[in-house]
Amino acid sequence: MGFQFKALFLYLSLFLFSDQTKAEQFIDNNSSSSFAARKLASGCNYFSGKWVYDSSYPLYDYSTCPFIDPEFNCQKYGRADKMYQNYRWQPFSCDLPRFNGLEFLERWRGKKIMFVGDSLSLNMWESLSCMIHSWVPKAKTTFMKNGLLGSVTFEDYGVKLLLYRSPYLVDLAYENGGWVLKLDSIRQGRAWRGMDMLIFNSWHWWTHTGRTQPWDYMQEGAKFYKDMNRLVAYYKGLTTWARWVNRNINSSKTKVFFQGISPTHYEGKDWNEPSKSCYGEEQPFFGTKYPAGVPLAAAVVNKVLSRTRKVYLLDVTTLSQYRKDAHPTIYSGQHSGKDCSHWCLPGVPDTWNQLLYAALIS
Ligand SMILES: *[C@@H]1O[C@H](CO)[C@@H](O)[C@H](O)[C@H]1NC(C)=O
Ligand SMILES: *[C@@H]1O[C@H](CO)[C@@H](O)[C@H](O)[C@H]1NC(C)=O
Ligand SMILES: *[C@@H]1O[C@H](CO)[C@@H](O)[C@H](O)[C@H]1NC(C)=O
Repeated sequence: MGFQFKALFLYLSLFLFSDQTKAEQFIDNNSSSSFAARKLASGCNYFSGKWVYDSSYPLYDYSTCPFIDPEFNCQKYGRADKMYQNYRWQPFSCDLPRFNGLEFLERWRGKKIMFVGDSLSLNMWESLSCMIHSWVPKAKTTFMKNGLLGSVTFEDYGVKLLLYRSPYLVDLAYENGGWVLKLDSIRQGRAWRGMDMLIFNSWHWWTHTGRTQPWDYMQEGAKFYKDMNRLVAYYKGLTTWARWVNRNINSSKTKVFFQGISPTHYEGKDWNEPSKSCYGEEQPFFGTKYPAGVPLAAAVVNKVLSRTRKVYLLDVTTLSQYRKDAHPTIYSGQHSGKDCSHWCLPGVPDTWNQLLYAALIS
């Protein structure tokens, strides 16, 4: 396993390195239009810190938020322990601003905010909707969800939180009798125009094989592939997306975020307890160095994002790796199996949204 990992890493590094010159063509080097460059302007790395118990958490109650899907509604579906809801993320070198839903609504009055990606986008979208709703429980809201699209509108403020389901960000199309994952095509990006804020995420579906793999072929240019190394495919797809951002986003109008790789906790060996999975875990990992290290997919994200200044990385990977206790497991409504991939609400995605909020106001 160790050897396999090293070989893959080497392969990936070589691949990323050799592709460098080609990729530079789309670099956006205008720092005055940079949003991401302001990331550490406050002198604080929000993403380096620890989880601390805080009895004033969670930020909302599951029973009063109308937007939580059964698959994330752990307390409603029988989870008995509650402590996992009481952890607050504490950066080492500063405090996160406390989330203020009213201020959020005032600041984004009349604006459109869209989450684009897989069900982890759904997770974060519902979390933000609940966080805002708890500040204005009597405000008129309109909720819609069907197929690829969702929306929560806070009518009195004209604030729209939209959801656009796209597990790969690049196009998936049915052509000549088969489903094709198009690594260099992103026509669906038309649906993301005109937003004031975009929060993207993609990774988990790139790993799917067999029954849960929705495509028959991958395509790049005129070439078709039956399969390829999934990290390389991810790198190609994400590069297409970054190019789309550079060509289509005006940073003075639209803030763009990337959600970062959300870790799973199916394998106890990741935190040195090989016999376990997330099921039954009631405590975060309290060490500072997570044994599994940073996932390779996060290295791909860093590489691609290093070439665009228009995207702020919500670097949620490490802080979420510490939270083996915060997944729905079996407390997820009709869903079968043990879910160690999504997150209970209230829970970890609330912290992702606090980090989003901190990035917006600092
Ligand atoms: C910015 O990029 C352009 C085109 O890629 C290049 O010609 C120019 O020298 C770069 N400017 C700086 C300051 O790096
Ligand atoms: C950089 O971006 C700013 C704001 O979008 C613009 O005013 C300026 O002309 C750009 N500079 C260059 C060298 O492209
Ligand atoms: C970017 O958006 C700003 C504010 O809406 C606008 O003033 C500016 O002209 C836009 N720039 C481009 C290149 O479209």
